[in-house]
Amino acid sequence: MGDRERTGLGRPEAAVDARRSAPHVARNAGAIAEVLRDVLPERGLVLEVASGTGEHVLHFAREFPELTFQPSDPNPPALASIAAWREEAGLENLLPPIALDAREDRWPVERADAILCINMVHISPWAATEGLMRGAGRLLANGAPLYLYGAYRRAGVPTAPSNEAFDASLRASDPEWGVRALEDVAAEAGKHGLALERVTAMPANNLSLLFRKRQGPDAKRAPSVSASAALRLGA
Ligand SMILES: C[S@@+](CC[C@H](N)C(=O)[O-])C[C@H]1O[C@@H](n2cnc3c(N)ncnc32)[C@H](O)[C@@H]1O
Repeated sequence: MGDRERTGLGRPEAAVDARRSAPHVARNAGAIAEVLRDVLPERGLVLEVASGTGEHVLHFAREFPELTFQPSDPNPPALASIAAWREEAGLENLLPPIALDAREDRWPVERADAILCINMVHISPWAATEGLMRGAGRLLANGAPLYLYGAYRRAGVPTAPSNEAFDASLRASDPEWGVRALEDVAAEAGKHGLALERVTAMPANNLSLLFRKRQGPDAKRAPSVSASAALRLGA
């Protein structure tokens, strides 16, 4: 898995500069934006959960000028970094970051037309994924997308050695972290009316997961695509 999404926030560029830089962003932001091109609505508010340094959302705000982006993170240095990148960029469609912990029952935003969450699910306790799905189920209207990116295990598919090593290093850092099973994430999403629609293989053994809000918990009012049937790797 190389040195990419292993660290949380990278290192500060300078003591007086709150901007932080995570090297993996330069390597994956373009590929993620290409997937998002087919996923995001033409207009509206895109909430990013766990924005980290803020470099992804900065890239997306430039790529999709018709959309408004709302970055967020619970971590104060991350919020400072996002704010600093935003101030330097001066993009009208990039809102000031908000403090948002996915585990909380109340989020400081009440609706979104799309939600993005990159590299949080494996680098946080499972309660953060539970909270993410609860929140996405609450905020998104019927048909709206939840996009996840990161490393996942899949039933019946051997896990890449690099991801096994990554998982071991995550668990050594915090026993509550770890590479999650795609099927567990999809099951959690289904409890909140989010159906897994597409899985896309990404560079360095990462996956893009596209969920869509369907009315009601467990997506009872629309046919849910099962995790195995939804695999369109390389799409
Ligand atoms: C590995 S970083 C990923 C940051 C960024 N998305 C990226 O890919 O560079 C994980 C991020 O998840 C955030 N995070 C951890 N627990 C969280 C939670 N409960 N709710 C929201 N964000 C959380 C951390 O603060 C951190 O910014």
